[in-house]
Amino acid sequence: MAKTVRAHTNIALIKYWGKADDQLRLPLMSSLSMTLDQFYTDTKIKPSTTGNHFFLNNVEQTGQSAQRVFTYLKKLQQHFNVTGPLSVYSTNHVPTAAGLASSSSAFAALAGAFCSYYQLDVTRKELSCLARLGSGSASRSIYGGFAVWQKGTDNASSYAYALDEKPQMDLHLLAIELNQQPKKLSSTGGMKQAQSSPLFKPWLARNEQEMAAMIAAIKENDFTKLGQLAELNASEMHAINLTAQPGFTYFEPDTIRAIKLVAQLRACGVECYYTIDAGPNVKVLCQLRNVKDVTNSFVSVFKNAKIVNASFGPGISCLD
Ligand code: PMV
Repeated sequence: MAKTVRAHTNIALIKYWGKADDQLRLPLMSSLSMTLDQFYTDTKIKPSTTGNHFFLNNVEQTGQSAQRVFTYLKKLQQHFNVTGPLSVYSTNHVPTAAGLASSSSAFAALAGAFCSYYQLDVTRKELSCLARLGSGSASRSIYGGFAVWQKGTDNASSYAYALDEKPQMDLHLLAIELNQQPKKLSSTGGMKQAQSSPLFKPWLARNEQEMAAMIAAIKENDFTKLGQLAELNASEMHAINLTAQPGFTYFEPDTIRAIKLVAQLRACGVECYYTIDAGPNVKVLCQLRNVKDVTNSFVSVFKNAKIVNASFGPGISCLD
């Protein structure tokens, strides 16, 4: 009996921003993320007699998003030598208020639901590889807490593992939605273009060192070090976008205002750091004692900003 599978979204503190292999979604660098409690996707697969279907929040999807799901299912079916039309039912508990990309939880939950439907007995390592084929960041959503995606060199060696599934660190991520417009450049497109930056290779060369420093910060329960490293890594990624040939940016004017607000808060003794993905919205890392001050400051500067306070979420699970 196929089960509903739940996977939570994750936010990278050391970013994946470049593919070594487009088909297998092998990354050029290792990455590290925090799985979030507030945002997740529930997915169940049922048999179909009328071709493949994809329902998201009870609405049948057509066009690009459905195609991406069907292409992915076909890839998995070929891999396991199984067949048959499928109906995918997904519910996204990623409030639009968060402005968070949901592909990490979406493809992790879909990989899990696929294995449940065909009763495939896979390890979490294998599941991470399967999720990666749908969306790179999904490889990390198999685990709770902090996860590391080691870049690997082929399909079998590029997977994520749990660094610490129940971290003791006092760490909150405030997801701040400044802008609700869908991004104009996909992460796949951005990653490709970014490689033309003269800063790309030097950044890549720093990956091992940045990963080791972040892992050490987590092991030492050092919030300051974690925040500084996460902010630096995100700024490097966005500097690479600006210096690509041609240059581009996901930032909007409010993104810069938010970056400045984080610096101002820090100057006033409210310790916080930002990280930013392939979009204009900002995520602020802080400790519990500063959640209120950071939230109030953002609300007072950005009147319409929607803010969600998230902390560590769990790994993938079956619901029924
Ligand atoms: O997994 P994708 O293809 O959505 O790419 C994710 C890219 C970033 O969110 C910017 C970084 C990351 O490691 O999650």
